[in-house]
Amino acid sequence: MELNKEIPEPIKKQIIKNCSICGKEINFIKAAETEPVIMNLKKKSLISPLSWMGGKDKQWSLIKEELPEKIECWIEPFLGGGSVALHAIDEDSAWSYILNDLNEDLIGFFSAIKKNGPRHYQTHPSLKKIPRTLKEAEILYDNSPEEIRFWIDNILKFNGMPRARWYQSRLEGNYRQSRIERLINASWLLNKKEVALVNSDYVEFVKFYLDIIDLYHLDSSKSPIFFFLDPPYFYSQKNNIYNNHSKIDFTQLKKVIDDIDKSGCKFLLTIDASVEMEELFKDYKIIKKNWKYTSTNRRRDACKTGVELFVKNY
Ligand SMILES: C[S@@+](CC[C@H](N)C(=O)[O-])C[C@H]1O[C@@H](n2cnc3c(N)ncnc32)[C@H](O)[C@@H]1O
Repeated sequence: MELNKEIPEPIKKQIIKNCSICGKEINFIKAAETEPVIMNLKKKSLISPLSWMGGKDKQWSLIKEELPEKIECWIEPFLGGGSVALHAIDEDSAWSYILNDLNEDLIGFFSAIKKNGPRHYQTHPSLKKIPRTLKEAEILYDNSPEEIRFWIDNILKFNGMPRARWYQSRLEGNYRQSRIERLINASWLLNKKEVALVNSDYVEFVKFYLDIIDLYHLDSSKSPIFFFLDPPYFYSQKNNIYNNHSKIDFTQLKKVIDDIDKSGCKFLLTIDASVEMEELFKDYKIIKKNWKYTSTNRRRDACKTGVELFVKNY
């Protein structure tokens, strides 16, 4: 396994050790061809190639305002559609990134596009043509590799929700050249910096890195390790929008966050505002911001303005 020098040595050692323990490959290897592909995204505000429930593409500028000044290692336990991480990589917010999600297919997708690299997708036959009908999309889907199937399936469903069906309106509104460019760009970004993709439950994932920090006495004030947490929305869970797979216990989340705080690392948590969440995180600094939620389960809510809580320990 080839690891880049920029990742602190102790972390690399532990990652290798972890790989052999859990048998999962954590891939730091860059794609063979990562020479700059000239990407010219027309709308830079949209960076994720996926549609994702709770995706934060449009909120990046608000998130950016709240980031710590210096970050060496960016750790993100709830990657989702990857908008925040991709924006952070794009703007060189940190040196290395360790990105996790419980969704195996999602991590499979990002791992594949990272491994194959942008040139592979620039010339890929499955991305040459934009289907006009769902029938054409189905044929393309059947003849595509797994990661492109995941991507086609995702963009044709409302919010990319796994149990939803494909919609002609999604095909017309979403299946565009710019979406293909976002996929190629994401493949390039995942190779631009040191990026590791992990498929694990967030509790286990965070504990693993906190143990490393403790074991090697890593001083987060000298080489800042930062956790960005964007868990599934509290509102959505109360209203059963997520499937069980995505439900989390917020009391447990609070414990995990307290552990991050005790380790000396900085964290930023974003969560939809509610009395319950304000009460739960009252020990930390809470900032409220208005923003437009683009991902809810109901069409009429599609661009609802809401309040988001930014919870942080710095
Ligand atoms: C709100 S989304 C993150 C959105 C992301 N920041 C973006 O901008 O696209 C939350 C993610 O948490 C993941 N998730 C849910 N439960 C989890 C768990 N127990 N451990 C790790 N990830 C989990 C879901 O699969 C989902 O992708």
